Amino acid sequence: MAYLIKNISQLITCRNNFNHPKYGKEQSDIGLIENGNVFVDKRKIEFVGNTAALRKFLKNYEKKNFKVIDGKNKTVLPGFIDSHTHFVFSGSRAVEYEMRIKGHTYEEIAKAGGGILSTVNSVRKTSKKALLNISESRLSNFVKNGTTTIEGKSGYGLDTKNEIKMLEVLNDLNNKNTFGLDILPTFLGAHSIPQEMSKRDYIELVCYEMVPLIAKKKLAKFIDVFCERGYFNAKESQQVLSIGAKFGLIPKMHTDQFNSVGGINTAINVNAISVDHLEEIEFTDIKNLQGKNIIATLLPGVSYFLDITYQPARVLIENNIPVALATDFNPGSCMTENMQMIMSLASLKLKMSAEEIINAVTINAAHALFLQDKLGSIEPGKQADLLIFDFDSYKDLLYHFGINQLQTVIKKGKIIYNS
Ligand code: NIG
Ligand code: FE
Repeated sequence: MAYLIKNISQLITCRNNFNHPKYGKEQSDIGLIENGNVFVDKRKIEFVGNTAALRKFLKNYEKKNFKVIDGKNKTVLPGFIDSHTHFVFSGSRAVEYEMRIKGHTYEEIAKAGGGILSTVNSVRKTSKKALLNISESRLSNFVKNGTTTIEGKSGYGLDTKNEIKMLEVLNDLNNKNTFGLDILPTFLGAHSIPQEMSKRDYIELVCYEMVPLIAKKKLAKFIDVFCERGYFNAKESQQVLSIGAKFGLIPKMHTDQFNSVGGINTAINVNAISVDHLEEIEFTDIKNLQGKNIIATLLPGVSYFLDITYQPARVLIENNIPVALATDFNPGSCMTENMQMIMSLASLKLKMSAEEIINAVTINAAHALFLQDKLGSIEPGKQADLLIFDFDSYKDLLYHFGINQLQTVIKKGKIIYNS
């Protein structure tokens, strides 16, 4: 089916004139077209431009039969890309949440046997089919808040069988899910250390059994590690990530969340695509990241949910580090699927501008998943993943908070949600 979204008050294309993620001043360039038009045919964007350009396009376009959607008083954006989540899990950690409200920290709860390991216990007991159903049912909460592409991690199995089970769920969902979302799988075997094994033995298992098997079965695009005191140090992280890279998995890192333990140096050494969290990143490490093309993926929902330090977005942007934003949706440190909530936090708490935020959840997030040629901006040839908001200025996206102003979500050219 072909259709034209016509006379859109503000069309935010996020077009990228560079082949790198946007950084520094570029991070504010959103490619705004007033009274813009988008022509979609099947799954793809065919045309983007103002009314004069549209006339020319239609004159030469062979198809004369298409639907028209009125864009007056609307703002259109690329679908949001949530480049860091742990949405495949079972069980609830609401009890831990209450403990934290009473004053216990995330680290204390983890030390007492809660935390990641409590979700591991639950996931190990859940069948693959049940895990798939629970995870798929979560997708609607992402979609109705504007997310059209999701990265998802393993890391709650911590043994070969259950890590593979989680990755198979992610792959099965990518092949088929209710909304046709693109789902990108990340292997996070090095998320924590299972109780039944020493850390040294577990690292061997991850490196010499899991990684080769996962690569052979083509179950993951990325490899990730939790580089943190009490989890994996910089050297151990480097071992895991460089073996993953040898097998064709692209390195990502959880680093500098509670402590700065040398993770940024590791990320540079293994040529990671992104460094995620960064609540405690040091200024010298920000300087070291300059010119490396590594994306800083900030997760302000974690700072909110755990009541910890927020990420230094301004310092990163002013030092020319490309910034992306993601939910980190997971049962322990950020229980929200809502990218609009994350954007509001980025505005108020990270002091990012509306323009910087919009690029951070679209084109830069696409770069963080190595999808920049297909997704992340509204440009001819790209997949038609579009959001229609019920306001005539994108500034309202951040100004008017706590409600959902999203009217329509389009994925691969198809309307998958209408408010
Ligand atoms: O990104 N930091 C490590 N991993 C997750 C939390 C996982 C959990 O608590 O279950 C995170 O915050
Ligand atoms: Fe995470």
